[in-house]
Amino acid sequence: MKVFKESCEDLAFYPDSSNSDLVKALGDYYNLEENRIICGCGSDEILHLLARIYLDKGDEAIVFENAFAVYPLAIQSTGATVVRAREKNFKPEIDTILSSVTDNTKAIFIANPNNPTGSMLTIDEITELHSKIPTNILMVVDAAYAEYVRDQNYDVGFGLAKKNENIVITRTFSKVYGLAGLRVGWAYCPKEIKDILYRIKVPFSVNVAAQKTAIQALKDQDHINFSTKHNSLWLPKLSESLSHLGFVVLPSECNFILMQCPESLGFSANQIYELLSSKGLILRQMDEYGLPDFLRLTIGSEEANNLVLSLLEDLIN
Ligand SMILES: Cc1ncc(COP(=O)(O)O)c(C=O)c1O
Repeated sequence: MKVFKESCEDLAFYPDSSNSDLVKALGDYYNLEENRIICGCGSDEILHLLARIYLDKGDEAIVFENAFAVYPLAIQSTGATVVRAREKNFKPEIDTILSSVTDNTKAIFIANPNNPTGSMLTIDEITELHSKIPTNILMVVDAAYAEYVRDQNYDVGFGLAKKNENIVITRTFSKVYGLAGLRVGWAYCPKEIKDILYRIKVPFSVNVAAQKTAIQALKDQDHINFSTKHNSLWLPKLSESLSHLGFVVLPSECNFILMQCPESLGFSANQIYELLSSKGLILRQMDEYGLPDFLRLTIGSEEANNLVLSLLEDLIN
């Protein structure tokens, strides 16, 4: 906050359009080549730009059945067709992506781990998928929630991206860094793709305060450790308690839980949403994802988590 407030003194000046200090900080922190990093107004900006440079009318782009909702929007905005690869019980399977590939496929967008399901692919699965797709297809791996993952078989995939010309990894300061309102995302790309993105993007999409605050946030790894520890404690706790109450809880590697409200519960997802909202606890409704009987609960403070559980216990028991 201190850096954010101080940066308000610089508001008369345009931001550095190449985000050079932030790019350097990211390159140093993650040990990545600076000339392959691009920053954007959230990773959303970069996802949309990638769709724009790779897709056109008549092209196809593959996403998983319950993929993050921004991908279809970005794909459709180019005139291309969204192809949904099936999941098995909300779990992504690389075979269904492979069987969806056609001569028209130009891109694959994967959130790893995925919002809203919380599911993930292992680095072996990502590597195998990449090895089996034609090299002209762009593979976008969106690692927005990477910091929360506890599965030992997970890896963001920078190593794979370093060696290949058709993988882009996107990251964000919106999740574990808690800076969603600041709008800073970034991507590690093949140099050629980074150069094209840089040519077509709005030059000043990451403002002065966002650049400076993101650099400071990167230095504050104590905050990240605190948040990820808190998540690792509460994710299993909440998942177990919600299952006991009768919700069907999907395993999650993120900072949220996707849960189904089965008929046996006696209350619909909408009724539960309304009850919790009336107490100031806002869950995410899933109608937009075609999952009207589901709710997504973000892990909150200890107080908020306990309040959710006690309200649900009172309602259901
Ligand atoms: C999987 C995933 N990717 C990307 C984003 C967008 O992040 P940003 O705030 O960096 O645009 C989100 C936000 O909800 C997300 O869930």
